[in-house]
Amino acid sequence: MIGDKKVLFSGMQATGNLTLGNYLGALKNWVSLCDEYECFYSVVDLHSITVRQDPSELRQRARKLLTLYIAAGLDPKKNCLYYQSHVSGHAELAWILNCFTYMGELNRMTQFKDKSAKHADNINAGLFTYPVLMAADILLYQADVVPVGKDQLQHLEITRDIAQRFNAIYGDVFTIPEPYLGKTGAKIMSLQDPDKKMSKSDENANASVYLMDDPDTVMRKFKRAVTDSEGCVRYCEEQPGIRNLIDIYGACTGKTPAEIEKEFDGKGYGDFKMAVGESVVAILKPLQERFAELEKDKGYLDGIIKENGEKAEYYALKTLRKVQKKVGFPERIR
Ligand code: TRP
Repeated sequence: MIGDKKVLFSGMQATGNLTLGNYLGALKNWVSLCDEYECFYSVVDLHSITVRQDPSELRQRARKLLTLYIAAGLDPKKNCLYYQSHVSGHAELAWILNCFTYMGELNRMTQFKDKSAKHADNINAGLFTYPVLMAADILLYQADVVPVGKDQLQHLEITRDIAQRFNAIYGDVFTIPEPYLGKTGAKIMSLQDPDKKMSKSDENANASVYLMDDPDTVMRKFKRAVTDSEGCVRYCEEQPGIRNLIDIYGACTGKTPAEIEKEFDGKGYGDFKMAVGESVVAILKPLQERFAELEKDKGYLDGIIKENGEKAEYYALKTLRKVQKKVGFPERIR
């Protein structure tokens, strides 16, 4: 708890460009969470170097991600948006937690198995202990809830195991985090293959809409979006392409599937696709304008980064000092 609020923590890697799916499925819904939770959103650059990165590109992407979060509506006065590498407590706690984590547990992590298959020439120890760093992220802020996708649930589970193990030895040091199960956004699928999630890393350029796409590009992608054979705008299992477009239109306009079916009753897919594209252009426009403004204002952004980094550090140190004392490190003389 911070004050009378529960703590929410999430970490994001600055890889690739954010998609409309990231926005409608997650980001957009995070904006109001700060009313209920004390929110920390970290750009997890320590995690990023578990695979080889180009230094200047990594730095640029990290800043872009942070800017995009603000542009998407996360108020940096109400949410702590910061770089993981600016708070040394993450690495320090990760080291300690490494000593409370078993090789066998880490060996079972499916993401490790996947990533080591993909980067067979660089299976480094950081990749192996990645989940421990993630546990440190979460436990450092005594987070109560963590909004994560399905692919990260196993990492949250090991975080809980490590925290419980530590608590069993040293008393109640860590809050045991839960997955955030509150209202989540629409699950947006690929525009080219509606059985697949819309992804940042899709090779098919028409499959994903990126938050920085200009209006022409957005409209073109929706014109090319896969539809179905029924010929009518109906929300059903048998029409996954149309269902996805209805979900997108609904998320952008606040209309329900029933209202949308009615609105396009008797109209063809062509009209509908244009309307969906326009609704997406309309929500991306203010976001892109805000992004451009923020990017120009270097001083403002630097101020946010400094202030929020310091705020994160304050809470991180509170936990870290407690942990250091528990495990038996000597006290600092001031
Ligand atoms: N591993 C997460 C991912 O790839 C990112 C992450 C790092 C994270 N630390 C976290 C997510 C802590 C939630 C909480 O998506």
